[in-house]
Amino acid sequence: MKILAIETSCDETAIALVEAKGGIQNPRFKILKNFVSSQIEIHRPFGGIVPNLAKREHLRNLPILYNKILKAKSHKLKADLDIIAVTVGPGLEPALWTGINFAKEIYKSIKYQVSGIKLVGVSHLEGHLYSNLLKAKSYKLKAKNMFPAIALIISGGHTILIKMDSLVKYKKLGETRDDAVGEAFDKVARLLDLPYPGGPEIEKLAKYGRAASINFPRPMLNQKNYDFSFSGLKTAILYYIKNQTETAGGKRFLADIAASFQQAAFDVLISKTLRAAEEFNVKSIMISGGVAANKTLQKKFKSKIKGQMLDVKFFTPVKNFCTDNAAMIAAAGYINYLRNKKRRLTAKGNLSL
Ligand code: KG4
Ligand code: ZN
Repeated sequence: MKILAIETSCDETAIALVEAKGGIQNPRFKILKNFVSSQIEIHRPFGGIVPNLAKREHLRNLPILYNKILKAKSHKLKADLDIIAVTVGPGLEPALWTGINFAKEIYKSIKYQVSGIKLVGVSHLEGHLYSNLLKAKSYKLKAKNMFPAIALIISGGHTILIKMDSLVKYKKLGETRDDAVGEAFDKVARLLDLPYPGGPEIEKLAKYGRAASINFPRPMLNQKNYDFSFSGLKTAILYYIKNQTETAGGKRFLADIAASFQQAAFDVLISKTLRAAEEFNVKSIMISGGVAANKTLQKKFKSKIKGQMLDVKFFTPVKNFCTDNAAMIAAAGYINYLRNKKRRLTAKGNLSL
């Protein structure tokens, strides 16, 4: 099946063309085209995303990316399509609407030429959840060996721990009660005078710092639940900076804060994920979302899994599929289509998993 997918929930305009096969037991994807147009430079002066600017940029970028797909795939593309998948939430509603309306327009313009074509609404969170099924070219999913699994979605808007019995049967174990972990990275970056988005900047700066130099709090680490909280950690860093006078501002000082903050946040994420993996005796752990692109986190996860002698496989998508993209929306669109899971084609800013 050929899937055209559209993603505009936040500050990336993304369109992908993906071939899917294998059905629900063994879904496999081949990424034919994957375009992402980032708005980071536009939002950077504001230190975060401005919804109306995001909407304006999506409206400008969508036809440009779509034309790139049409050009790349020749005139046959439309006749070939089976599914148009589009993100309906969660995210910024004005931004979501641009993608939904664009998808509807394409659907209307070709539905009489292409019999059986379906327009499928997708949750952005399902996209992140299924992003572990994607590889740069094609990927054979060994679904039988993957489940049960623990999935951790860590992005700018979400921090969710999920137990998956199969690709389609899953349950939320816990989530953040305040800031998402990516949001904490972005806010701490601002305190350190680093540009938006803060995650990659903190990761870079942390390489020059000592992760054990400052003992920042590990919120909710020892609580028996699977919830998270990151706003107190951010506040602890704010006060730490305020209370230091002499050395403040030096690169070493800032790098120590970045490394110690990163360590504190990752300790909580890893500890709770591994505890869930043990409790539910799972076969694999998969992480996804922008923060999952962090190499320090990936390494720490692997070494803790080894250190605790857990017999679990560790999955993380390649970098481009950690951060927002449309290929993951195609994957979720395919699975929703196979399950006949219907979502309303209206923007739902607070759609939950
Ligand atoms: O998944 P994503 O692209 O968008 C959302 O759905 O939110 O995630 C964006 C978030 C931002 O908060 C960004 O700072 C964070 O992911 N991020 C990172 C890294 N790359 C992106 N955080 C830590 N380390 C990174 N390397
Ligand atoms: Zn996302």
